[in-house]
Amino acid sequence: MKKVRKAVFPVAGLGTRFLPATKAMPKEMLTVVDRPVIQHVVDEAREAGIEHFIFVTGRNKHIIEDHFDRQYELEATLRGRNKWTELAQLEEDTPKAGATSFTRQQEPLGLGHAVWCARDIVGDEPFALLLPDMLHLGAVPCLRQMIDGYEKTGGNMIGVYSVRDDETHQYGIVDVGGSSEKVAKINAMVEKPAKGTAPSNLAISGRYILQPGIFDLLEKQAKGAGGEIQLTDSMLTLAKSEPFHAVHFDGKVYDTGSKLGFLSANVAYALAREEIAPDFRQAIAEILK
Ligand code: G1P
Repeated sequence: MKKVRKAVFPVAGLGTRFLPATKAMPKEMLTVVDRPVIQHVVDEAREAGIEHFIFVTGRNKHIIEDHFDRQYELEATLRGRNKWTELAQLEEDTPKAGATSFTRQQEPLGLGHAVWCARDIVGDEPFALLLPDMLHLGAVPCLRQMIDGYEKTGGNMIGVYSVRDDETHQYGIVDVGGSSEKVAKINAMVEKPAKGTAPSNLAISGRYILQPGIFDLLEKQAKGAGGEIQLTDSMLTLAKSEPFHAVHFDGKVYDTGSKLGFLSANVAYALAREEIAPDFRQAIAEILK
């Protein structure tokens, strides 16, 4: 079984739901506590053992590339001021030389098309795909839980979590035939089912481990839901010849693409930080009084 060494991060989206904050700044650079959303997701991949980070960007996203580069002036200033903790943090957060790649999705044709743009950089090996809007907070990072599952089953894996019945139409939904196993074989998938038609309430959480065969399918994929090239449609075809398993994430998922999800993520991530939590808890209680 080939090891999962590379991860793809599609970061080309416009972020219209967060205007005017995202007029000049990519939505992936919005902060949850003191780290950009994209940094949280790269952290998750690194903690799962990923060695190469592939970003599918678009116009106006160059700040993401700068963020993952070294900053000599800043480093020199911090060194001059003996700020060793901050320096060490910067070093830990910055991928090593040669461990990042950036390519552009030139047109907004959908998630499937964005993933396809990474085909040459991924090459002929399995890869992880992490959608940065979705933050996963758990004792064991989501991608780590999935790689643990992958090492037993191989094939393709999709991270899932339970959503309310009135939310299923916003996500890709998988059916595992009622199994309550942490890693369960997928019987069916559907992208954004019409209200009342979802086969289950297990939503695709924006974490995947995919085999490279997906790229040939994406290349020929017809437009689907919302007039976009949908990853889920190509996964459905791949599932006819390769196993797909759902990994039920043990933890909480925050959809930071919505205002409510973004605000909730800030609260949850702050409360998960030992040095902030006690004072923050008090500040919230004060506000709610
Ligand atoms: C995408 C996927 C969907 C998944 C969702 C998670 O949809 O197509 O299957 O449930 O991400 O955020 P999007 O949010 O890009 O519309």
